Amino acid sequence: MNKFDKQKASDRWEILRQAILKKTKDGEKHKKTSMIEFVSFNLLTTDQVLDNNGDVWHQYQYSSIPSFRARIKHISKSFNPEELIGFNNTGNVCVWPAEEVLTYWCLENRELFREKKICELGGGMTCLAGLTIGTSCEAEVVTLTDGNEDSVQNVKEILKENDKHLKASQVDASVLRWDKPEEYNNFMEMFDFVISADCLFFDQYREDLVKTINTILKPKGICIIFAPKRHNTCEEFCAIAKRKFEVTIDERYDAVVWDKHIKALENSSEIYDENRHYPLKITLTKT
Ligand SMILES: C[S@@+](CC[C@H](N)C(=O)[O-])C[C@H]1O[C@@H](n2cnc3c(N)ncnc32)[C@H](O)[C@@H]1O
Repeated sequence: MNKFDKQKASDRWEILRQAILKKTKDGEKHKKTSMIEFVSFNLLTTDQVLDNNGDVWHQYQYSSIPSFRARIKHISKSFNPEELIGFNNTGNVCVWPAEEVLTYWCLENRELFREKKICELGGGMTCLAGLTIGTSCEAEVVTLTDGNEDSVQNVKEILKENDKHLKASQVDASVLRWDKPEEYNNFMEMFDFVISADCLFFDQYREDLVKTINTILKPKGICIIFAPKRHNTCEEFCAIAKRKFEVTIDERYDAVVWDKHIKALENSSEIYDENRHYPLKITLTKT
């Protein structure tokens, strides 16, 4: 195993460790420890609300857009070790910081999506960014996807809960695996935008992900990805993507996010690791 493979294996174990630690139920406060795991840039505010069944929902709001509201719930099931390393429960662990930043970026740039068709790939158990486009702007179609069936089932429940607040003409959720062309060929050149967060570290699926994006984007379509470096995995993805797309990588794409990043680096009470938590913005343009 070379140095990078060892680092990547340790990243995967870190994700599983976080999932196991997360066995505390939704709503429970972090146990008091001297260091806490970094979970959020706090770009949006969230309130917890209970539904009639006693399930906890997280209601996202954004002070700059008072009319915006999106409600999500996490999967409450706890996964055993076999399920965690099977296909692919990394999106059922939490909303990762990259998804949070993508959500914020989509809100700030929501006018881009008006009357457009958008697909989120690998959105995990909430597809929060795609949901946010669906609830904040008059998009034509928003398709929320992940390869994990439990995640997509949860997203379908989230869509029901948000139904009255959807502004997009059509929002749906479906299972879409990048390594199964039969699950995306029906979306051939359909989308103006593809969005995705923290999906670049799967060595075995990187080529498939590039192929999926290339197939489902319209000519001149744009894919916006937020992803932490996670050692060389982001770079490896960009190298493959450059064969098909114009690729740009931005580190300082937003003053607010950059400021939060610098403050998190300075905050010694949180485990903040730039390599795992600070998402770069990667833009792929189909020529
Ligand atoms: C780290 S999670 C990110 C989830 C979400 N975007 C977030 O940031 O909170 C990676 C996601 O990629 C999905 N995934 C991994 N391999 C996939 C594949 N071959 N096809 C489709 N989705 C896949 C997983 O199911 C998971 O939800």
